[in-house]
Amino acid sequence: MTALFEPKKVKDFLFKNRIIMPPMVSEKATEQGQVTDKNVEYYLDRAKEGLAGVIVEPAFISENGRCSRHQLSAADDDKVEGLSRLASSIKNTGAVAILQLNHGGAKAYSKDKSELLSPSGVLAPNVTQEVTPRQMTLGEIAQVKADFIKATERAMEAGFDGVEIHGAHGFLLNQFNSPLTNFRQDKYGGSRKNRARLSLEVASDLKEVVGNKLLLYRLGATDGYDKGLTMPDAIWIAKELVRNGVDIIDVSGGHGGYRGHTRSQGYFVPIAVEIKQNLTQPVMVAGGISSPQYANEVIEEEGLDFVGVGRALLSRPDWPYMAKQELINRK
Ligand code: FNR
Repeated sequence: MTALFEPKKVKDFLFKNRIIMPPMVSEKATEQGQVTDKNVEYYLDRAKEGLAGVIVEPAFISENGRCSRHQLSAADDDKVEGLSRLASSIKNTGAVAILQLNHGGAKAYSKDKSELLSPSGVLAPNVTQEVTPRQMTLGEIAQVKADFIKATERAMEAGFDGVEIHGAHGFLLNQFNSPLTNFRQDKYGGSRKNRARLSLEVASDLKEVVGNKLLLYRLGATDGYDKGLTMPDAIWIAKELVRNGVDIIDVSGGHGGYRGHTRSQGYFVPIAVEIKQNLTQPVMVAGGISSPQYANEVIEEEGLDFVGVGRALLSRPDWPYMAKQELINRK
């Protein structure tokens, strides 16, 4: 069997191969953030083609962290029923179902721009809001932690196998982690340890909620700008996240987002490999992976645990099936 199709167990969850659909907003929810039939069909169409896992696009944890008009919500109890339809249709295919949870921070979509929150009240290099967001109070930071807990409780009630904390692409937790956007002078800013404090506290809180289920963290491991997060920072944060209960580190970009769109295959693979070399927990990587041969190399030769296949799966829902045929025929 090729490495890409070898099963892997994480806690009690058996991933039937190494291919995971990474979170990608699809704008198919209602304006209230309710799951629609279109959401269910979209994931089912892909999961049934042999994916090991699906990380469902981000649900916002509170209205002030919402990022788009038709984003999924996990901010109220009345969303649990719809989320459970989504979770069960994915799980019925044999794929592991994870829900990504996010707070947009300074990148949130808000009718009233003065409601935008950020660690320091400054703009991230890639944020273009007309109004500077407001620096969060300690009370608001505590509220974000409480909202992550409630949203995770809802995801668990809906039957998801786990949640992924979004700490990448310039959203709130990334804004805290990065020296480019965090100039606070209290315990949530300044040193690397202080900047990562909110992420680590959220991880340890959510670990309590998920128990035997899975906790993933999407790490914005590089900002793509000078003076942004360094490789030692990313390794340190990944290790601390694991110490605080994260089961899988999902490596992606930071404030530079996923600017690698036009770059070569696997543009975050070298960073993910360095992180993996310092960890015992599984590491997933996404970013420009589209050929089955290359995806297999990422597992077999680079030693990573999971590949996220995003845009290739958008254009070919049967990517896992196609990959299996190609790799088997090659043998
Ligand atoms: C994304 N991506 C993304 N990532 C994330 O963590 N949360 C999100 O909401 C989204 N939304 C999103 C929408 C769309 C349309 C795309 C194409 C991408 C990033 C995605 O998960 C993945 O990391 C990148 O697309 C790189 O992988 P691929 O597409 O090159 O395989």
